[in-house]
Amino acid sequence: MTIVWKVDPDAANLTDDPGIREAGLRIKRGETVAFPTETVYGLGANALSNEAVQKIFEAKGRPGDNPLIVHISDRVQLKDLVLSVPREAEVLMDAFWPGPLTIVFPASGRVADKVTAGLPTVAVRMPDHPVARALIEAAGVPIAAPSANRSGRPSPTTAAHVLEDLTGRIAGILDGGATGVGVESTVVDATVRPLTILRPGGVTREQLVACVGEVESDAALTTPDAKPKAPGMKYRHYAPKAPVYLVTGDCERVRRFVRQAKAEGKAVGVLTTAEHRDAYPDADFVAVAGRRTDLATVAHGLYDALRAFDSRALDVIFSETFERAGIGEAIMNRLNKAAAHRVL
Ligand code: TXA
Ligand code: MG
Repeated sequence: MTIVWKVDPDAANLTDDPGIREAGLRIKRGETVAFPTETVYGLGANALSNEAVQKIFEAKGRPGDNPLIVHISDRVQLKDLVLSVPREAEVLMDAFWPGPLTIVFPASGRVADKVTAGLPTVAVRMPDHPVARALIEAAGVPIAAPSANRSGRPSPTTAAHVLEDLTGRIAGILDGGATGVGVESTVVDATVRPLTILRPGGVTREQLVACVGEVESDAALTTPDAKPKAPGMKYRHYAPKAPVYLVTGDCERVRRFVRQAKAEGKAVGVLTTAEHRDAYPDADFVAVAGRRTDLATVAHGLYDALRAFDSRALDVIFSETFERAGIGEAIMNRLNKAAAHRVL
């Protein structure tokens, strides 16, 4: 049984909300609870307990070599988790916390081994969502939380997505409505110089550069065969059941691939944006993710659109592509993974 607690994120005194209090108690006791953050829903457990964290890996079917992000609600909690706080990390925290930025620090050894998957580092973030923050406070412990999807599926941006994947596998879920950003946090390694982006996300490269000057990219972000420093980046992810192909160029080019696949008798899906909603009359199913003129709306709607394909029997999915600037970098990173780097 998975309990659903409805919470209004705009309510005053969320720490007194009965759902959040019970969810916090359950986390402290070693159970798993899903909760909204500003990026995607997370599946939380007490980061100080191996037994609790093990339940996250089991519920998700997540490989044990993929470490988890530790979520805190107060900078004071950081001291216990890390060996040291590099000066550049301090600058990033001042600029982007609370918010969609995860920072990799040298680990103190205080969090459970399963959280760091045996690495000497620990990834920490302070989410910018009132329900997440109130839950961490109610639990009284830092919360380890990956995205609350079954491994390999697109991350959940609504409570319905979480329930689709994890009903009966987790103790409960705090339903605080749809998340805002829609793609996960940016992961930055602060144990190396220059600071290195391991996963693009809600805080853009441009924002990071404006804040600290030089920022590198993990080699795996540009060379698909390189071994990524964030273990999770090596897995195929975000993928609908039907194979996805990214199609560069304009809609007419996408239409040509649609027509060709239809001629071969295939059931065809297209991932597009509101501007081109009606541009694919031959497709069997069209999923719309936001507006091309405002990439933040595409990020917001991307995972819901990817999930929508699985409710149809499709043989192939063609996706439009986006400029890799700003949040477009995170969007294209997720689309490339969904497509297993198949580009037409
Ligand atoms: O927005 C987010 O970050 C969401 C919400 C729930 O906070 N969480 C999330 O967690 O996306 P997850 O587990 O789906 O992705 C965490 C990523 C993985 O790629 C993992 O390998 C990497 O962060 N990671 C975690 N700890 C790390 C570490 N010590 N060093 C390098 N990469 C690490
Ligand atoms: Mg994930």
